[in-house]
Amino acid sequence: MSLPKSAYLSDVWRDGIFNNKVIFCTGGAGSICSAQVRAMVHLGANACIVGRNVEKTERVAKDIATARSGAKVLGIGAVDVRNFDSLKAAVDKCVKELGGVDFVIAGAAGNFLASIDQLSVNAFKSVMDIDVLGSFNTLKATVPHLLESAAKHKSDGETPSPTGTGGRIIFVSATIHYTAMALQTHVSVAKAGVDSLSNSVAIEFGPRGITSNVIAPGPIKDTEGINRLARAQDVAARHAQVPLGRYGTVKEVADATVYIFSDSGNFVNGSTVVVDGAAWRNHSTDVGSGFQYPDFLISGEEVTGVSGLKKQSKI
Ligand code: HXC
Repeated sequence: MSLPKSAYLSDVWRDGIFNNKVIFCTGGAGSICSAQVRAMVHLGANACIVGRNVEKTERVAKDIATARSGAKVLGIGAVDVRNFDSLKAAVDKCVKELGGVDFVIAGAAGNFLASIDQLSVNAFKSVMDIDVLGSFNTLKATVPHLLESAAKHKSDGETPSPTGTGGRIIFVSATIHYTAMALQTHVSVAKAGVDSLSNSVAIEFGPRGITSNVIAPGPIKDTEGINRLARAQDVAARHAQVPLGRYGTVKEVADATVYIFSDSGNFVNGSTVVVDGAAWRNHSTDVGSGFQYPDFLISGEEVTGVSGLKKQSKI
């Protein structure tokens, strides 16, 4: 299904900034990663997405290609990021057919809600393997090409490289491990590992021109992630918990991707861009002592009924 640009990209970016570039993405048929890739394709890149499901990966690749006339998007199914050889074969095919790899998104992830009591050793291992080992495998399979691209597209921070940017990787993570979340131990541990991997890549490969960053989406509407974590009937309460009062959109994650991969992200390395409306900072639904969030703040009422009060100043 061809999507309007407004579904996956803001108007602030210039068409053509990723001309002649190639993006490789794991988990690229998923709701968030497909929007990230679609945005890059719209702005000039060709792409290769990989996933386990053959039919879905091929279908989404065809769909992403509609974002720009002349775009080439490979969809390679039956690729499990836990299996290095299948991933390496996909990268080789991408390089052969599209000419290289300039940008990588390590987006494949596994998730389900389960308490530690309900979590078998194999269930924990499955998520660790998909998220942590899979991200490492993605890096190992693509890094020779990222190094090549980084060497061709250096930035001194002042004069834009005439050939644009390249040699950049983004790991898609989460925010739940910043605090902790019940029923998400496996994912919290895994995403902490993913963040740590990105930080190590930033310092080990930075001297050779590669940048490595994390995008940490919060609750994003109409995604497999949110559908696995929140019940539909709880949406209003979940929105109220987000300081910006709503779930995010895949477009907002895609915009963060373009920020990091384009000239605007030249000096951004070893960072995490959190796209969550400040949701992770707000783990309580009330301000404290029963003052309901955000209703109490919006009401303009004064705090009453507790000790230690002072006359409140008005702005
Ligand atoms: C408890 C479960 C379970 C569940 C699977 N398992 N689902 N345990 N509760 N709901 C257990 C199985 O019983 C098995 O353990 C082990 O996990 C492996 O399951 P398999 O189905 O055999 O493995 P596999 O096919 O590899 O599936 C991997 C998966 C699955 C992670 C379990 O959910 C999956 O394929 N997910 C991919 C898509 C996905 O999750 N997308 C969402 C990403 S969103 P036993 O002991 O029985 O052998 C995201 C956002 C994160 O990541 C941040 C959110 C804020």
